[in-house]
Amino acid sequence: MIKAMGERFLVTGALGCIGAWTTRALVREKLPVVAFDVAGDPNRLRLIMSDDELRQVTFVKGDITDIDSIGHALDEHRITNVIHLAALQVPFARANPPLGALVNVVGTVNIFELAKRNADRMAPVVYTSSIGMYETADASTDDGVLRVDATAHPRTHYGVYKLANEGNARVYWLDDGLSTIGIRPMTVFGPGRDQGLTSGPTKAILAAVVGRPYRIGFGGRTLFQYTEDVARTLVAASRSGLTGAHVFNLGGSLASMDELIAAIESVVPAARGLLTFDEQRLPFPEEIDDAGIEVLRDVRVTPLAEAVQRTVDIFSERLARGVLEVKLTS
Ligand SMILES: NC(=O)c1ccc[n+]([C@@H]2O[C@H](COP(=O)([O-])OP(=O)(O)OC[C@H]3O[C@@H](n4cnc5c(N)ncnc54)[C@H](O)[C@@H]3O)[C@@H](O)[C@H]2O)c1
Repeated sequence: MIKAMGERFLVTGALGCIGAWTTRALVREKLPVVAFDVAGDPNRLRLIMSDDELRQVTFVKGDITDIDSIGHALDEHRITNVIHLAALQVPFARANPPLGALVNVVGTVNIFELAKRNADRMAPVVYTSSIGMYETADASTDDGVLRVDATAHPRTHYGVYKLANEGNARVYWLDDGLSTIGIRPMTVFGPGRDQGLTSGPTKAILAAVVGRPYRIGFGGRTLFQYTEDVARTLVAASRSGLTGAHVFNLGGSLASMDELIAAIESVVPAARGLLTFDEQRLPFPEEIDDAGIEVLRDVRVTPLAEAVQRTVDIFSERLARGVLEVKLTS
């Protein structure tokens, strides 16, 4: 992709799983990146980046609920591209709904508002929505597939917040001409995915690498999305030049938990018999239509077996160096 002159990126939630991979993707493309996060420990970035790569990142500790803090970072670094990922995931939003609303909804409105105020230099704001705003019955009754324009009936506060963000993005376009691109992931996995409702598959890979038993808390089929692919799509969206308020379902590898475990066992044969799962299905549609997302161009899906192999390789290498924190509870 051609590098536009003077692109400077800010990633909110950069110390989280998807944030770390997005930061890494930007550094590897030699693009300046400010990592904005309320947390201070870049352990997920350290897991997937070299010390030299880490030195190229500008870290800003700040809270997206504080509009001045994020506004200051945008101005100081003359940011042109915002990839907004900071949020509280389902269990944390469930434990504290007022805080969840503040971070996930007000925090996102803060980002949109600041982008509007700096519209002269801003690329479309990219933000993560979620398939978590849908319930199983929102899929088509004809073929069981969830279309991008399906009506959502969220069953969690988290889902309601995501739906609200998409609505606010639409209104910012109607009222102010602010361009936004919402990406809806489902089950993201790979190094750094260590918390949240669907982090079990990644913990199972880690358990296999360290030779411990692990039970994944859900079964059925889900759409597996490798962290590196998700990051690539977010960066492509930010550089797409699209105008309007767009939302895309993210594609991936649709597989059952049996198939995931078989893929892990084929990479780590010693893990045979260690991994199990609950039969309980996730309360979301399984088959998801990602039609339209190809407009972002640099969208790839690493085959599941290869993504499992890459995750095992990263965990194994860090384990051998004694720098892997093994956390199998959420
Ligand atoms: N992981 C998935 O499978 C998945 C699926 C659908 C949507 N998403 C969305 O993608 C985004 C990133 O997910 P993730 O898996 O990387 O999550 P994560 O929990 O690993 O990371 C979230 C990051 O946001 C930061 N953060 C929280 N509150 C903040 C605040 N007030 N100010 C600044 N930073 C704050 C946290 O410190 C953390 O580093 C989220 O919006 C999430 O809802 C993720």
